[in-house]
Amino acid sequence: MKPSILVARAVFPEVLDKLAQHFQVTSNQNDELWMPAQLIEKMQGMQGAFTTGSERISAELLAACPDLKICANMAVGFNNFDLDAMSAAGVLGTNSPDVLTDTTADFGFALLLATARRLSESEHFLRAGHWSRWRYDMFAGAEVHGSTLGILGMGRIGQGIAKRGAHGFGMNVIYHNRSHLDAATEAACRARWVSKSELLASSDHLVLVLPYSAQAHHTIGVAELAQMKCTATLVNIARGGIVDDAALAAALRQGVIAAAGLDVFEGEPAVHPDLLTVSNVVLTPHIASATQSTRRAMAQLAADNLIAYLVHGKALTPLNCKLPATTASIK
Ligand code: DGY
Repeated sequence: MKPSILVARAVFPEVLDKLAQHFQVTSNQNDELWMPAQLIEKMQGMQGAFTTGSERISAELLAACPDLKICANMAVGFNNFDLDAMSAAGVLGTNSPDVLTDTTADFGFALLLATARRLSESEHFLRAGHWSRWRYDMFAGAEVHGSTLGILGMGRIGQGIAKRGAHGFGMNVIYHNRSHLDAATEAACRARWVSKSELLASSDHLVLVLPYSAQAHHTIGVAELAQMKCTATLVNIARGGIVDDAALAAALRQGVIAAAGLDVFEGEPAVHPDLLTVSNVVLTPHIASATQSTRRAMAQLAADNLIAYLVHGKALTPLNCKLPATTASIK
């Protein structure tokens, strides 16, 4: 008998077709919003789950779903997984790295440009019919080329942004990360490691690309914003919760920093109401990896992880590697 899997969210039809060749698939093509208790209910008897960053795989869910062997995330981030609880329950987690690196770096750079050059603000002004004549200082923003680009979190996506800044825009790139990159990677990115306080104080444009963890909660709050230049911009394409959104909205209103570009939010899809009322912020709905081909590649990789693990015994991009390889046998 084919193993049973739940595809918890709507997905490309060809991905469902591929999964159906190997599994009994329960899908959610209407993209119904399931509360945690409903997700547990839907997960009963499932050996695998295809998830996105929105489905929380908690200790409670794991205790209630003893048949579960693998959750495959269609996302590089996996802060929706309680990985320790998954390891304790013998459930493998996988994510979808690499396939989205360049697309997400492109978007990070697009958000940086839009924020520095005040794209949203000026478009809203035009659409509202306020444009009556040219003016010397109208929507004069911050220079991008030749400025100092700061990157907090220098993994694959951070490196992609560094390369775009250094090679494309002649930026002086500095970064902060727990560990220094090796010399060859630093040279390829033309990036220099600095302390967090130097990063905050020296960046003209600061991009956040670090993974979310409890330790990373509110990495950027009142104190950090106060250390930044009043002309600086801040871009968050990492995860909601890394920035204290209420503190950021206040800082934007008070001119503590010049502008921000945000693709992720604390408690999304809700957005802090104060962010909606400040004009010097560009807001997008968590779309950094959203191109047709990249979203397809992410979905394919999540599906391939389910097939690789449940059918062939070894996942492609495992997160909790200490789990033994499995076979198709149902526990
Ligand atoms: C990711 O891949 O982590 C993106 O944020 C989409 O969830």
